[in-house]
Amino acid sequence: MTFKNALITGASSGIGEALALELAKRGCNLALNARRVELLEQLADKARSHGVNVEIYPCDTADRPAVEQAAQQALETFGHFDLAIFNAGMARYVFPKKFNVDEIEQLINVNLMGAIYWTGALLPSMLERKSGTLAAMSSLAGCRGLPTVASYSASKAGLSTFFESLRVDLRRHGIRSVIIEPGYIQTAIIAHNPDAPFVMSADRAARIMINRLEKGKTVIRFPWSTATMVRLIRALPNWLYDRIASAVRN
Ligand SMILES: NC(=O)c1ccc[n+]([C@@H]2O[C@H](COP(=O)([O-])OP(=O)(O)OC[C@H]3O[C@@H](n4cnc5c(N)ncnc54)[C@H](OP(=O)(O)O)[C@@H]3O)[C@@H](O)[C@H]2O)c1
Repeated sequence: MTFKNALITGASSGIGEALALELAKRGCNLALNARRVELLEQLADKARSHGVNVEIYPCDTADRPAVEQAAQQALETFGHFDLAIFNAGMARYVFPKKFNVDEIEQLINVNLMGAIYWTGALLPSMLERKSGTLAAMSSLAGCRGLPTVASYSASKAGLSTFFESLRVDLRRHGIRSVIIEPGYIQTAIIAHNPDAPFVMSADRAARIMINRLEKGKTVIRFPWSTATMVRLIRALPNWLYDRIASAVRN
């Protein structure tokens, strides 16, 4: 399967930018979203050099009316999307003595609700065409409640379970719901974590993701080293997990 029209959120840097360029190289038209307009414009110019149509739809993905308007405009221009990648995301620490509900709410709104807003805006058109792929950029960090990143872990666990339910519900409608769970990818989001293991470049990660999306995979977990580590972490009994996790926290 190759994609003709794709919408990518969080496309101004990192994984989203690499995904956009990889899809452009493969001849896919692009609708790009993020907040930093200048970066989106530069990326759009670069992607157009591959001969594809590219438009930008800047907005805050946590602003539901703005997302609905952007999605509507993008649908009017492109007609339909056969791929939508909900990639916009942020990370933040949560410490008990600095517990900040506003910050936690903002992160959940960007990472989880943002993907749901875009889904709500794009799903009717996919249902009408009985085809399309929705892909949520989750993370292996959603495997358990990881120390010091409660909101990030929760947002990614939420994304994975939400889009797993959709995967089941959308099967009979001809629509794929895909969960992408990468390990550490070299982008701004892990700049605070110089000891991250098995780090992969964003370009390589984007190639793996698009290859697997084109093959019709519905769960994309990589690299195998981190995915294996995560399987082990998941299997630990709580008493052991708590001891190890509290010893290695930042
Ligand atoms: N890097 C990793 O190790 C890793 C691993 C697993 C999963 N992920 C996930 O991959 C996704 C991309 O992250 P990245 O690693 O590529 O980091 P990044 O370079 O910081 O990219 C984050 C992207 O999300 C956009 N974004 C953030 N808040 C937004 C908002 N409110 N509205 C619209 N766009 C927003 C940013 O654009 P603007 O600032 O211009 O809005 C940027 O384009 C995230 O969901 C992250 O959780 C990353």
